[in-house]
Amino acid sequence: MSQRIIITGGSGRLGRSVVEGFVEAGFDVTSVDRNVPPSPAKGVDYRTVDLLDAEATGELFTDLAPEAVISLAAIAVPFSAPEDVILKTNAGIAHNVTAAAVSGGAKAVIIASSPSIMGYGAPTGWVPPRLPLDEDVKPEPWHAYGLSKYVAEQVASLFAQQTSEVKFISFRPCYVIAPEEWAGAPTQQGHTVKDRLDQPELSAVAMFNYVDARDVTDFLITALANIDQVDNGAVFFVGAQDALARRPLAELVPEQFPELAHLAEGLTGDSPAFSVQKAKEVLGWEAKRSWRTELVE
Ligand SMILES: NC(=O)c1ccc[n+]([C@@H]2O[C@H](COP(=O)([O-])OP(=O)(O)OC[C@H]3O[C@@H](n4cnc5c(N)ncnc54)[C@H](O)[C@@H]3O)[C@@H](O)[C@H]2O)c1
Repeated sequence: MSQRIIITGGSGRLGRSVVEGFVEAGFDVTSVDRNVPPSPAKGVDYRTVDLLDAEATGELFTDLAPEAVISLAAIAVPFSAPEDVILKTNAGIAHNVTAAAVSGGAKAVIIASSPSIMGYGAPTGWVPPRLPLDEDVKPEPWHAYGLSKYVAEQVASLFAQQTSEVKFISFRPCYVIAPEEWAGAPTQQGHTVKDRLDQPELSAVAMFNYVDARDVTDFLITALANIDQVDNGAVFFVGAQDALARRPLAELVPEQFPELAHLAEGLTGDSPAFSVQKAKEVLGWEAKRSWRTELVE
């Protein structure tokens, strides 16, 4: 019998792709979002609820009795709403969804965080202990979005402290490129992928990170399949194996972030600024897609 799964935020940029990928992989998928997408995918049960409503969310999840929950719903762009609204919304959704998943009987919960919790872009300057960044580097969020995602990770840890019957994972997807964006559709920030490559200052905002939405789906499916290998509450970066840049980051990082020049010497060739080793070592997952093979120029 196929595994019953709830994906929250299934109408969003990443969620639409994830929902389709899980249906293709044979899961029994319910998308829970405030909205139904303009082109709903076949074979998906779409439910609408405000995930900030803890009671309605709890009742819905209990009715659906999912085996696993993937939590993508959030305000996904820093400064796209007032800071207090972003913090309350994302932290509230993370808590409500995780609590509802546990009380609804789910055995696995995977929560979307973000690499932006690390602190790059902070107006006072941000200098991490090393590059590439790995999951042992301490996050230093500087905006409400980053803080809200840090809280979401802590929500996963909190529930992992309360029960060992359920596995919790947080993942930090790099700048998500939906499949149609390789051919020129606008990305989350409004410009195209090609603009991001041609104007390094655009990609520098995310430390040149990116990931194809289909690779995120593969990560999530692999994580669920190998959930027994994962320490409860673990965090993973989920990114492409290369940087979204036409030149090595050993050159681009010092140009865009002079204060990080001393950390960038090792970022030669196409190396990214975010390590994807942990997902490879623990789960056996690595991204298959690169801008070099996907971009339609
Ligand atoms: N897109 C990226 O590059 C990126 C990078 C890092 C992390 N993330 C994280 O991945 C997740 C998905 O991002 P996305 O780009 O698909 O975002 P998106 O804005 O396209 O989709 C978010 C979805 O959440 C839903 N939602 C928001 N508030 C809700 C509420 N109160 N109740 C019910 N549904 C609600 C929205 O309707 C929307 O469909 C988010 O958690 C985001 O923070 C995204």
